[in-house]
Amino acid sequence: MRSVISKMCFCLLLFAMLRSRGCEGLGSEEAYVTLLYGDEFLLGVRVLGKSIRDTGSTRDMVVLVSDGVSDYAKQLLKADGWMVELISLLANPNQVRPQRFWGVYTKLKIFNMTRYKKVVYLDADTIVLKNIDELFKCGKFCANLKHSERLNSGVMVVEPSEAVFKDMMSKVNTLYSYTGGDQGFLNTYYAGFPNAHVFEPNMSLKELNERSEPEMERLSTLYNADVGLYMLANKWMVDEKELKVIHYTLGPLKPWDWWTAWLLKPVDLWQNVREQLEETLPGTGGGRNPNVQFVVKILFVLPLCALFLCYYQSCVKMNKDSLSSCCRISPCDYVRHIFYKFKSGGGLPVYSSVTSSSVANPMQQFANGAHPKVPAYLGGVSVVVCFMAALLSVALASAVVPRQVMPWTGLLLMYEWTFATFFIMFGSYLRVAYIWGKATGGRAGTAFTRSDSAEYNSGKGHQRHESDCDSSVWFYGTGMALLAVMTPSLPCLFGITALFTRLGLMVAGGIVLASFMTYASEHLAIRAFIRGLEERDLPRSRSICLLC
Ligand SMILES: *[C@@H]1O[C@H](CO)[C@@H](O)[C@H](O)[C@H]1NC(C)=O
Ligand SMILES: *[C@@H]1O[C@H](CO)[C@@H](O)[C@H](O)[C@H]1NC(C)=O
Repeated sequence: MRSVISKMCFCLLLFAMLRSRGCEGLGSEEAYVTLLYGDEFLLGVRVLGKSIRDTGSTRDMVVLVSDGVSDYAKQLLKADGWMVELISLLANPNQVRPQRFWGVYTKLKIFNMTRYKKVVYLDADTIVLKNIDELFKCGKFCANLKHSERLNSGVMVVEPSEAVFKDMMSKVNTLYSYTGGDQGFLNTYYAGFPNAHVFEPNMSLKELNERSEPEMERLSTLYNADVGLYMLANKWMVDEKELKVIHYTLGPLKPWDWWTAWLLKPVDLWQNVREQLEETLPGTGGGRNPNVQFVVKILFVLPLCALFLCYYQSCVKMNKDSLSSCCRISPCDYVRHIFYKFKSGGGLPVYSSVTSSSVANPMQQFANGAHPKVPAYLGGVSVVVCFMAALLSVALASAVVPRQVMPWTGLLLMYEWTFATFFIMFGSYLRVAYIWGKATGGRAGTAFTRSDSAEYNSGKGHQRHESDCDSSVWFYGTGMALLAVMTPSLPCLFGITALFTRLGLMVAGGIVLASFMTYASEHLAIRAFIRGLEERDLPRSRSICLLC
């Protein structure tokens, strides 16, 4: 009886062992592998996974994550279909190396993934366009030659082996690395790589089995097409239709940063995959991040609120008279104003106010002594302030806009924040110029009379001057805004994709914008100052919403 039971037990045990063996055999022996050091590249890994599945591959997808990766990121990747494996970082033995290379030797751990027969390693900044399952037929070590004679570790086929891994680990401290990272190490470790034969994906299984497996093989450029090289030549060195893997190598131009879509054409391919990302966790469809979505909404509303508050506050501060004049300034009224002027044959008001009056060259006029009260340096100071305000606005906007939003969202947010900040800063400066003018006028006392200021207006009535003034503010405001919008979109209008031509066009547009800003800032500040001079007797009623 006892022996029967023990026999049965033995059988069961055997069966269980066989089963587990069978399962292992059935399970994938080949896997796509990538590495994730921190949440910054999370979106990259998600897009990579989606692109692999889109090509119809059913191989395992393993992501090796280090301590720097959040639990949320791990959950999301699991939900996306990745197998998440925790690893500890391998310290970089090189003392002299770029800061960002502190953990890159960790990549060598793919040689230790011995439960797989073969792994295809892809960097998180790559994207797969066509099925690359044939890469699993590659030899013990395959990579792509780039930068003359050196292999690139962004796409590799590796046959994991404990012996190789141990050998590598024993040499990590002694072998020279030209980059100070894993790529340099691998180049020294696989010293004969440039002479390796090119991997032939069309080889039949029979041929594969008959040949002796080479130690290393080179992959065609199709498996690791470098965006950096595309950028230089503005085209792929290989047939674009044949491309299989694109590698977004350029340091500051990673495809998940919104601005790269406006600079590099190949990022479109990446963005297309990103838009199709499924909502595997709530709010993550299209590569979105629920937290960032919330921030984006606030960022859209905030500048509008700030502008409205400014406007409202300044209106409330004023007495009834100026309330009506303040509220008269609206784009609508401006358009109506232009329309009436146009109908009465007066041409555009902006031109009449700029050319017919003596304002065309304000500094010259004041230098001639028509307006001795206007400080000679006011124009120069205004230009400096204007450019500082513009720079600060752009800096603030780029600091505030989240990096991984969609390209359009990023662009709109950037414009909104730049314009709002600039408007508030330069508006405040004009207000200062106005108060300054008032103070100067007050000090000068009777030496400066109203008739002097009438001369500045070419004899136009006060009322008239005001409306001209409003329209000149709107003219310069819309002019600057239009130029600022036009400049980055010039390349799109002309259909230019070459990065350097794009940058050249933008620089040209920038010069036009800068000249316009120089003129406008000087003009507006002097107007505000003179307005202050004129109204030195009036109670302090005008406000920044008048801007001049
Ligand atoms: C390599 O793999 C083995 C077995 O999978 C494991 O025990 C070992 O810790 C790994 N080595 C490193 C350095 O990760
Ligand atoms: C490999 O095979 C495909 C079709 O099976 C063919 O289009 C391609 O030209 C072949 N490539 C080489 C290098 O022979």
